[in-house]
Amino acid sequence: MAKEMKRIMVTGSVGQIGSELTMALRKKYGNDNVLATGHITKPSPALRDSGPFEFIDVAKRETIERVVKKYNIDTIYHLSAILSAVGEENPQLAWDVNINGTYNILEVALDNKLVRIFVPSSIAVFGLETPRDNTPQETILRPTTMYGVTKVAGELLCDYYVKRFGLDVRGCRYPGIISNITLPGGGTTDFAVAIYFEAVKNKKYTCFVREDTMLPMMYMPDCLKAAIDLMEADLSRLKHHCDFNVTAMSFTAGELAAEIKKHIPEFTCEYKPDFRQAIADSWPNSLDDSAAREEWGWQPGYDLSAMTRDMLRVLSKRHAEGKLNY
Ligand code: SER
Repeated sequence: MAKEMKRIMVTGSVGQIGSELTMALRKKYGNDNVLATGHITKPSPALRDSGPFEFIDVAKRETIERVVKKYNIDTIYHLSAILSAVGEENPQLAWDVNINGTYNILEVALDNKLVRIFVPSSIAVFGLETPRDNTPQETILRPTTMYGVTKVAGELLCDYYVKRFGLDVRGCRYPGIISNITLPGGGTTDFAVAIYFEAVKNKKYTCFVREDTMLPMMYMPDCLKAAIDLMEADLSRLKHHCDFNVTAMSFTAGELAAEIKKHIPEFTCEYKPDFRQAIADSWPNSLDDSAAREEWGWQPGYDLSAMTRDMLRVLSKRHAEGKLNY
């Protein structure tokens, strides 16, 4: 019988995924059983008022250990990371947070006999030599960004802790994540979020990648589902652990703009590629996620049209109430 996850800690809980994952976990496992942690940014009132919150620095092991002991934590969702675009501006910071942070989480988990750890990876593990269409689970991992380097090393490190120490670490390679609560912080796929906010607010958007740039993407409800389903999966069924390809849809920036235009006919999109174009060009168009489907029943719920309907419904309502601040 697998050990139960009863006392959960989320790192990076103030970030794009962490903020929504914390609320989903609190709903599922009980508010008091889910400790949200962040580094510098203050938590939103929703996060702060619905359960415990602590500041930590994942690059400093003792700050993690203090709260793991204080709250008797047995499970960690390790979401804190520096994303691809910020990582290119500050590679040293990306290494420190993503590599030393992950190493500290694993070491604290081992020493304190934690039950299970979730460490997400990313499509950024792939590079120019990787097959771009329907990218296989097992393939060439030679990323060109510091973010990608830290994600490949992170996957290998986590798998090492599984094999060498029997620590139950799990993770999937997220594609671009689209959401409407907390904005992403400095990634290459951020255009696919910003375009919705700008479409609702200003009816126009200037996109920082070319119109024909295709990337794998996923709507936030599916992103949360992937994390929770993978963490709930029967360990004996898993052949992979920390590197599952997962995807929900693939589209070009132009196809995304056209989908939004179906709902907001006056919407216009211009394309002014910047340094993030080269990063996007090094990532796949689409992923083969059959290992995730076979080993833990992965199945996304949203495609481009369902996601667009929902994004525009939520953002238009917030805009009408004068609350579309970003
Ligand atoms: N969304 C991330 C980024 O663009 C990819 O993991 O950096």
